[in-house]
Amino acid sequence: MKQVRPGGAWFGRVGAGWHRLVGLAWFGNPVNQHQPGPTWPHPAEPVEFAEVSKRIAAVQAPIIPILGEWIRHSPGTISLGQGMVAYGPPPEALAAVPRFLAEPGAHRYGPVEGLPSLVEALAHKLTTENHLDLSRSRVVVSAGGNLAFMNAVLAVADPGDEVILQAPYYFNHEMAVVMAGCRPVVVPTDARYQLQVDAIAAAITPRTRAVVTISPNNPSGAVYPEADLRAVNALCGARGVWHIHDEVYEYFTYGLPHFSPASIPGADAYTISLFSLSKAYGFASWRIGYMTIPESLWMAVNKIQDTLLICPPHVSQAAALGALGAGRAYCDGHISALASVRRHVLARLEAIGDIAEAPSADGALYCLLRVQTPLDSMTLAQRLIREHKVATVPGTAFGLPARRSLGGGGTDGTYLRVSYGALAAETVDEGMERLVRGIRALA
Ligand SMILES: Cc1ncc(COP(=O)(O)O)c(C=O)c1O
Repeated sequence: MKQVRPGGAWFGRVGAGWHRLVGLAWFGNPVNQHQPGPTWPHPAEPVEFAEVSKRIAAVQAPIIPILGEWIRHSPGTISLGQGMVAYGPPPEALAAVPRFLAEPGAHRYGPVEGLPSLVEALAHKLTTENHLDLSRSRVVVSAGGNLAFMNAVLAVADPGDEVILQAPYYFNHEMAVVMAGCRPVVVPTDARYQLQVDAIAAAITPRTRAVVTISPNNPSGAVYPEADLRAVNALCGARGVWHIHDEVYEYFTYGLPHFSPASIPGADAYTISLFSLSKAYGFASWRIGYMTIPESLWMAVNKIQDTLLICPPHVSQAAALGALGAGRAYCDGHISALASVRRHVLARLEAIGDIAEAPSADGALYCLLRVQTPLDSMTLAQRLIREHKVATVPGTAFGLPARRSLGGGGTDGTYLRVSYGALAAETVDEGMERLVRGIRALA
């Protein structure tokens, strides 16, 4: 079925998956395209166009491209900036690609929620590894954890509603909340970047729709104890707000236990869990994440993802299925190598313990340094790149003030996130040497 858009472009989702085999509404326009359109008098003054919507203008600029620009002007910089792993997908994932390409229908749209075979494999992983009871839930494959988060926010919150984030937050979470027209309510964590459940409870208002937690955490590396996650989840259940829990770093705990709050009996009714293959399986460019949602949210997420994505890319889903075949053992092999990089990084930081500390860096790929320096975090990060050729991410990107006072239990500081996952061990080592030297010089 093909239809012509006004203007003549071919329009139609030819060969859509089964769910799309519905007639397309006529998109035509009775105006004959060959007739000249109406003419308008030339304006005396230049016409001004608003450049972007106010909603998007309010969203913080993505920090990683800004860092990239700084690094480009300082060749030879080692980047401890971006949160990625240095390894790629398992061979099983790559071997699935040519097989997929030979399949009839490889290039067609598919189900919004992902290919049934992948959904089934993920459901098996979620029940066996995360101990989720999926009998009243849906598994939805998405184009990475970021889109899964956007799906979640758009599904549960209206413009003007509040979404509680923990500071430091993951910048794309805050950006998504603002983009959805909602208000991020940022609750500080404690001096060790751990959850302050009483503060979260105090921040809940009649406009609160969701509380967001991330464990293991980006940017702090904190791994939240099961008891705290249970407490936040129970709070959400008691106050009628959604608990959106991001577990994309679930395997990166270096020996500590990982806990999925959606596994708590009854929590499936109000818990949205987010996962990703980007980190653990070295899948960042393939864009495969997934979420579990209560059945009641399915139609909302269906509408959103159908509009934003139509379906997750098939070739990546085929590769993801191959990756799941290799399973957690593949990830664990790489993560145990990363554990030794992490130990080296922490040992290096100990050497400057008098002027910098990184509490609770127990998981993920990060430590969040609190540096004793008069410089604000953008200046510190920029000067480290310019003068010491090492890149880190300034704390302001994560909602931390340029200099933060924790009052009571904590210390003031300027914050920098160090990511140790994306480079070879020797390069990280060299980067840390530069960082330590740079911080000493600039503190
Ligand atoms: C906490 C957290 N959630 C989600 C993501 C996005 O992951 P994905 O590549 O699956 O979109 C990241 C990436 O850095 C992250 O740190």
